[in-house]
Amino acid sequence: MQKLSERTAHFTDSVIRRMTRIANLHGAVNLSQGFPDFAPPKEITERLAEVAQSGPHQYAVTWGAQNFREALARKQEHFSGLAVNPNEEIVVTCGSTEGMMAAMMSVVNPGDKVVVFSPFYENYGADAILSGAEPVYVPLVPPEFLFDAEVLEDAFRQGAKALILCNPSNPCGKVFTKEELEVIARLARKYDAYVITDEVYEHILYAPHRHLYLAVLPGMRERTIIVSSLSKTYSITGWRLGYVIAHPTIIERVKKVHDFLTVGAAAPLMEAAVVGLNFPDAYYQELQAHYAHMKELFVGGLKRLGFTVTDPQGAYYVLMDVSEFGVRDDYGFSEWLASEVGVAAVPGSSFFHEDVHHLVRFHFAKEDATLNEALNRLENLRKMAQGQKNWK
Ligand SMILES: Cc1ncc(COP(=O)(O)O)c(C=O)c1O
Repeated sequence: MQKLSERTAHFTDSVIRRMTRIANLHGAVNLSQGFPDFAPPKEITERLAEVAQSGPHQYAVTWGAQNFREALARKQEHFSGLAVNPNEEIVVTCGSTEGMMAAMMSVVNPGDKVVVFSPFYENYGADAILSGAEPVYVPLVPPEFLFDAEVLEDAFRQGAKALILCNPSNPCGKVFTKEELEVIARLARKYDAYVITDEVYEHILYAPHRHLYLAVLPGMRERTIIVSSLSKTYSITGWRLGYVIAHPTIIERVKKVHDFLTVGAAAPLMEAAVVGLNFPDAYYQELQAHYAHMKELFVGGLKRLGFTVTDPQGAYYVLMDVSEFGVRDDYGFSEWLASEVGVAAVPGSSFFHEDVHHLVRFHFAKEDATLNEALNRLENLRKMAQGQKNWK
């Protein structure tokens, strides 16, 4: 048989999704893959029940149903102040995952450099491989996850065509400040680069942190490609509804890539989700209050158990420092944590370009009972880790 493709030969399977399989095998509390275990808003699921009867059940327009794009444009303008033309500046995709891939395929030629902050969301590595981009990593240095503007400028000087900005950030929970965004915008303008923003956590923020949209900064509207999603905002990760918002010239290209990648997002799910896009501000305030509660319960709980953890400003992840256990192999440690302690995390090294092996990532978008169960199990971690050698 001929060899399979070179391009995809170096893919590992996703560590995040692999940890979910390990969690299921051992009956561990699964705090690895980031999805809520609570129900989506009932207005959305009730509308879905109606749509099951009424339709639509056939293909929507390839770049997304008209009423969905119109509702999305209104929501985007409401929160960011950006006026968005629903016909020329939006493509609805199968999750932001497809949105990011379509954005990369639209911007990047094989061999082009793309700046990626590290730690980074695992998928960007695969997006780079599939689009042929060469990532140039710029560290966000723990514990504050700050970047050095000089190092960032060096990355642009290497001829980077684009930068991927995950804001709020998975896994470190960083929310970029206005000053930081201004540095990024200044360099993008100076070096004539695109910025692809991953804003899937735009509504999951902890006071006093606020989400600022890079695209509103001067000169950024035409070079920013916003990628976002309904997955996290409405707790519907399985619906696979995401989108790309950008200048018409860019969107024209994204439409074509998207058309040949997937044809379109699920028509009945778009129809049902319009209700969510039309929610009043109170919905987003309640969402933030709910996440503030889960963060206090779980991150506060880890602190009370004496663990050293990050203090997320946004998104729903926390990084825990496990150096006290002498961890060198964070993957082995995470497997042991799932099988013996009964809590599944993601090994931190899967998010870092640098050699970082002393962190694990938990997510806390879960019911109180789930988080309390995880904390109860983690209470035994120190005792159970004594004498263990398999990750050193
Ligand atoms: C930063 C980030 N971007 C994108 C995604 C994928 O989102 P979607 O469900 O919209 O494909 C995730 C999911 O965890 C994420 O954390």
